Amino acid sequence: MVRQEVLERSMAEGEYISFDDVLVKPGYSELAPTEPDVSGRFSRSIRLKMPVVSAAMDTVTEERMAKEMALFGAIGVLHRNLTAERQAEMVRSVRRSGNIVFDPVVVEEDMAVDEIYEKATRLGFQTFPVVRKGRLVGLITGRGLRLAKLSGRGRTAGDIMEKDLVTVPPGTPMEEALDRMHSHRVKKLLVVEGEKLVGLITLKDYEKRLRFPDATRDEEGRLKVAAAVGILPNDRKRVELLCRAGVNALVVDSSHGHSSAVIKTVKVLKREFDIEVVAGNVTDGDGAVALAEAGADGIKVGIGPGSACTTRQVTGAGMPQLSAVYLARKGLEKEGLEVPVIADGGIKGSGDIVKAMVAGADSVMVGSLLAATDAAPGEEVIYGGRKYKSYRGMASPSALGSRAGYGRAPEGVEGLVPYAGRVHEVLALLKGGMKSGFAHVGAGNLKELREKAVLIRASSIKEGQSLPVVMDRKPSKGYNV
Ligand code: XMP
Repeated sequence: MVRQEVLERSMAEGEYISFDDVLVKPGYSELAPTEPDVSGRFSRSIRLKMPVVSAAMDTVTEERMAKEMALFGAIGVLHRNLTAERQAEMVRSVRRSGNIVFDPVVVEEDMAVDEIYEKATRLGFQTFPVVRKGRLVGLITGRGLRLAKLSGRGRTAGDIMEKDLVTVPPGTPMEEALDRMHSHRVKKLLVVEGEKLVGLITLKDYEKRLRFPDATRDEEGRLKVAAAVGILPNDRKRVELLCRAGVNALVVDSSHGHSSAVIKTVKVLKREFDIEVVAGNVTDGDGAVALAEAGADGIKVGIGPGSACTTRQVTGAGMPQLSAVYLARKGLEKEGLEVPVIADGGIKGSGDIVKAMVAGADSVMVGSLLAATDAAPGEEVIYGGRKYKSYRGMASPSALGSRAGYGRAPEGVEGLVPYAGRVHEVLALLKGGMKSGFAHVGAGNLKELREKAVLIRASSIKEGQSLPVVMDRKPSKGYNV
């Protein structure tokens, strides 16, 4: 059971608080700062070695971010400000990656080299199995394709494909596959069942598996991904396409989750589709319990804490985030509901993640910190000699587009965030900070953190940031994670 006196007492006095109002009281530890296991959960069945979720925003999560998040042991939620078809295509692209490429993109034997080259540029890869009437007949490699394009030799796929195919049956252990690559001196194997092509194993994917042992994968080795949906019945087609594409969880994405429309949507999804459903956003126990009782497998908490949010100014509604997370967790515990809580919005660094987890979160959703990285969609912008990336609230005027106007007031803003470099570097810094935070109270994992950590009121939180530094050079990284 979570119990934090500082939150209980402040709320008894009608005062609700957030990250900057508290600190975690340091305590005795036998752990080195790199030792703790910080893993958490996104939903009932989706465990995360890195309990961070990239926000369902069009400046944060598209396929590239979703893949990088899953590789790191986190997970991405694909935004829904695009057609259902395109969103489902992104799901398929993430689900295709893993130990092996499932359901690889193929080309017909008579397809023109120029057309294949254009396809390769668009998709970002250059290996294509070649088929004739659905039967596997060859393989186009990056080297073969580039040589054909540059030399102008060879007109169609059939002219430039390799015909000596090295194949393995489905379920071949990776070590055996590696042996086969070695003995045939190839970097790619085709996974074939009878005459049917079912997958492609590449040396690069094998290397990735070794480099990312914590990745968020299913039993078959595919990376996991979630996707945002609106309420039903409006978004039924989107739900169907996403499920068909193999999405691992749907996130019912609403700024007011404690509402009849969201509760009904969760019920229908759980009744009619075999899929994990995360829903939100709520700010208290009643909201969390209502969604959990409707069948939600994860509850998202937070109204207005986000860095690009103006909901509180526009509507007057909201709840300081730490109290909200605590109330949601307590409400669920009181009813004996074992459903993960995701703290969504307002995370400025690893310290806030630790505080959210002490207050009852199983994972956190992050927008601006990730929008600042290379894997976020959107261009890098140079402004005043520094690099930035754009970031906008999903209810900002530009993201709402034609939906803005009468009756729909924007509740978000847009702007630039200082470029922070590679997403895995940012995630590694966050993870290191979290581990160190757990170690400061002697907690080896989330369960111990909840038992041991005590939040204290901290009106002097700024005293640790007062070094009067005069910069004689520009910092190499914009972000202070
Ligand atoms: P951070 O602080 O990580 O927050 O940038 C990301 C979260 O902000 C929420 N979000 C919005 N909230 N108006 C809002 O009031 C908006 O336009 C908006 N867009 C995103 C969302 O919960 C996200 O995960």
